[in-house]
Amino acid sequence: MCGIFSYYGKKHNAPEIVVEGLKCLEYRGYDSWGIAYKSNDKIFIHKKVGKISDYTINKDHFRSSEISIGEVEDPNEIKISIGHSRWATHGGVTKSNAHPHFTEDKDIVLVHNGIFENYLEVKAFLQKKGHNFHSDTDTEVIAHLIAEHCKTHSFEDSIKLACKEIEGRYAFVAIKKDSKQLISARKGSPLIIGVGKNEDEYYVASDIPAFLPYTNKVIYLDDNQMSIIEDGKIRFYDLEKGKDIEKRIIEIDLDIEHAEKGEFPHFMIKEIMEQKDTLHRACNANSELIEQVANEIKKAFGTYIVGCGTAGKVCMVGEYLFSAIAKKHINFSFGSEFSCHKHFLTDKSLMICVSQSGETADTLEAIEIAKEKGVKIVSIVNVESSTMARISDIVIPIKAGLEKAVASTKATTSQLAILTLLAYACNGGIHEGKQLLIDTAGQINDMLNPRYEGYIMELAKRIKDVESMYIIGRGSNYPIALEAAIKLQEVSYIHAEGFAGGELKHGPIALISENTPVIALVANDECKKEILSNAMEVKSRGGYIIGVSPDNHEVFDYWIKVPDTGDASPIVNIIPIQILSYQLAVLRKNDPDQPRNLAKSVTVK
Ligand code: G6P
Repeated sequence: MCGIFSYYGKKHNAPEIVVEGLKCLEYRGYDSWGIAYKSNDKIFIHKKVGKISDYTINKDHFRSSEISIGEVEDPNEIKISIGHSRWATHGGVTKSNAHPHFTEDKDIVLVHNGIFENYLEVKAFLQKKGHNFHSDTDTEVIAHLIAEHCKTHSFEDSIKLACKEIEGRYAFVAIKKDSKQLISARKGSPLIIGVGKNEDEYYVASDIPAFLPYTNKVIYLDDNQMSIIEDGKIRFYDLEKGKDIEKRIIEIDLDIEHAEKGEFPHFMIKEIMEQKDTLHRACNANSELIEQVANEIKKAFGTYIVGCGTAGKVCMVGEYLFSAIAKKHINFSFGSEFSCHKHFLTDKSLMICVSQSGETADTLEAIEIAKEKGVKIVSIVNVESSTMARISDIVIPIKAGLEKAVASTKATTSQLAILTLLAYACNGGIHEGKQLLIDTAGQINDMLNPRYEGYIMELAKRIKDVESMYIIGRGSNYPIALEAAIKLQEVSYIHAEGFAGGELKHGPIALISENTPVIALVANDECKKEILSNAMEVKSRGGYIIGVSPDNHEVFDYWIKVPDTGDASPIVNIIPIQILSYQLAVLRKNDPDQPRNLAKSVTVK
C-alpha cells in the first residue's frame, strides 16, 4: 500500500512531476498525500488530507504555502522532490500522519511504504535519547533512527545501519538537508528506478506507469538493496552482503496504458463492460505455456494455489475446477495463511499464485516461504512487470489491461478463464477448454447491454436500503458467493455474506427475516437441485430470493438470467453481481472506484 514517487534531476517543475506521478499511484492508497522539495539546502514540505487526484499544482499556492517552487534561480541546479500517497496503517488519517515524515529540524525527510514492526521498541529507545515525535506513524521513527546514526556516521552509512534495525517490510526514499544524495532502500515492498533520457535524471517510484511518460529505462531494486543517487550518478549497495553491486538498466516496451473513463462515469463500470474483450484475450493465452504449466501440475507432488482477496476466491474456484475437470486435487490457501502449509512442502511441490497486481505482500511472502523449500513457482498475473512475475519460474499473463477501480472485475474473470484452461489442459482437453471459453466470451458479449444493466438497476433500486444481504452457492459457485459478498461489501458498504448453500441450516439461516435479500447462484450442474432446495428453505422463512441462473425457477422472486456455460458458470455468474454492486454504490452515493478504507494493491501484511 502507499505510493512513493521521487524525482532527481534538473527539471524546474520537480514538485509538479511528483504530484502527477503520485496521481498514477493513487490506487495504492488515497487517504492523504504529501511532497517534500529540496532547493538550496532548504527542504519544503507540503501535506494534505484527502485524494490527490483532484489536486492541480498551483505555483502561487505553493509559494504562499510550505513549499516554494519559485525560489530556484539556477536552472542547472539539481532538484530533488519526494512524494507519497498514503493508506493509513499506523495512526489515523491526519495531516501530521501523512508523509513525508521528518526530524524536528527537518534535517532528514523521508517517505515510506511498508510496516516497521519493531518501531515501538526503537521509538522508546530514541525517546530516551531525547527525540520528540509528532505523529503516530512508524515512518517518523525511521527518520529519527537515521538522524541518531547521523550523529556519528555519514547519511549513507546511517541508512545502512538503520536498515539492519528495521524488522518488517519497507520501501523508503530519504533526503537530508545538507546532503546531495537521494537514497532509497527496499525490503519486501516495491521500488523501481526510472533512468531519465539524460542519464543524470532519475525517478524512484512504487510502480513503473508513474514515470513512463518520461522514460522506459528501468532498474528494479530487489530486496535488501539500496540505491544512492548523487552528482547525477546512481550506485547500488547490497545491505545483506554489505558490498557495492552493479545493476542492469532494462528497457521495457510497456506502453503507457492511458486508462480513461471515456463515455463511462466510473472505471468500475468501464472495466465490467470491458469483459466483452478481456475474456477473449484470456482465451487466446499461449497454448504451449498453458500445456507447460499443466505438465508441471501433473508431475508435481502437491500443488498449492494461493492468492488474497478476490484473487483468493478465484483460487478457491480453481480447487473445484481441477477436481471437476481434471479430477485432480490441488490445495488452496490464502496468502496470509500459507505459512501453515509449509510443513507439507518439498522440492517436488508446485505453487500457483494468482494476483492482479503481482505486489500483494501476503502472496509474495507465501512465495518466499515456498522458495525456501525449493518449490517451483507459477504466477498468473495481470501486471507483467510486477515483483511476483519477476520472482516466479513461469508466468502466465492474463492480459486484462490496466485495472484501475479498486474492486477487481475484469481481472477476476480473466483469472478464472486461465484456471479453467489449465484444468482442461491437465485433462488433455485444452482445445475443448478454449472452445468453451470462446463461446462463453461470445455470450457475455451479448449479455452486457444497456437493457441488462437496466434490468439489474430495477433490483438495485429495490434493495438499496437493506441492512444485510446474503449470497449462496454450491460447488464452484460457492467461492463465487464469497466473491459476490466481497464485491457488494467493497463498494455498496451493505453488510453482505456468502455461504455454501448447505451450510445455511447450520446457523446462518437464523439471520433470515421478512424480505432479507438472498442471491442464489444456480448453475446447471450437479448441485442444482440442492441449491434450489436451499433457496426454498430461505424463502420459507420470508427471504427474498434473487436467482442468478440460466433458467427461471419457481423459487425465485427476481430472476437474473445468465447464459448456460457449463464449467464456465463461475465466470458468468459473477458479472451480474459486479453490475449490481456498482449500481448499489452509485445509488448510495459511494465512490465505486475508490471505496473507503481500501486500496487496490495491498503491500502490507
Ligand atoms: C486488494 C484489492 C482486491 C484484490 C486483493 C488482492 O484487497 O482491493 O481487489 O483482490 O487486494 O490483490 P491482487 O493484486 O493480489 O490480486
